[in-house]
Amino acid sequence: MRPGELVLDIGSGYGRVLVYLEQKGFEHVFGLESDFRYFKKNPLSVVCGRGEQAPFKDESFGAVFSIGVFSYILEDQKRMQLSNEIQRILKSRGFLFLSCFMISGDEYHQNKYREGQKEYGTFGIFESDSRGIFRHSRENELRELLNKFRILSWKTRPFMTMNKRPASGVIIEAQKH
Ligand SMILES: C[S@@+](CC[C@H](N)C(=O)[O-])C[C@H]1O[C@@H](n2cnc3c(N)ncnc32)[C@H](O)[C@@H]1O
Repeated sequence: MRPGELVLDIGSGYGRVLVYLEQKGFEHVFGLESDFRYFKKNPLSVVCGRGEQAPFKDESFGAVFSIGVFSYILEDQKRMQLSNEIQRILKSRGFLFLSCFMISGDEYHQNKYREGQKEYGTFGIFESDSRGIFRHSRENELRELLNKFRILSWKTRPFMTMNKRPASGVIIEAQKH
């Protein structure tokens, strides 16, 4: 990234990533968060809105973070819309840092995915113990979503869900062409 370029964290929640980036020395860090409840606790500059309709001009940001957000977006069309918006608001050769949950092979999640498939029609969408509805992704689904980016690194890792269940996750670094 070049000095002075803006950084956006889509789905900034309570601002964990924003604080981390500021501590790392990034000066122009912004958040975009769809859930209004998070604002009161947010320490930095956060805009209320959805990533699929990001309220920013084309090529505004040198880097975009999307940590955990794709697990919240269930429909294929909205997931592609989010990917297209990230592409639009990134500068040429700008960076995307993305992480999200992947399909997990353990019995608990496999049962959840099967139940979810009956209810929602897609394997990977399921109702968690806390009654939130989430989507865990297959690798090919994520590669399809990111097909306009150059993938720089793709690391699968054991992740822990909010309900403290072991699951699989991925951390991806990508670049706009
Ligand atoms: C798993 S949390 C991660 C929060 C933060 N990125 C972090 O790592 O601490 C995902 C966040 O994305 C937000 N979110 C979900 N769908 C969104 C969307 N379409 N646009 C913007 N934010 C969204 C949720 O409200 C939630 O705050």
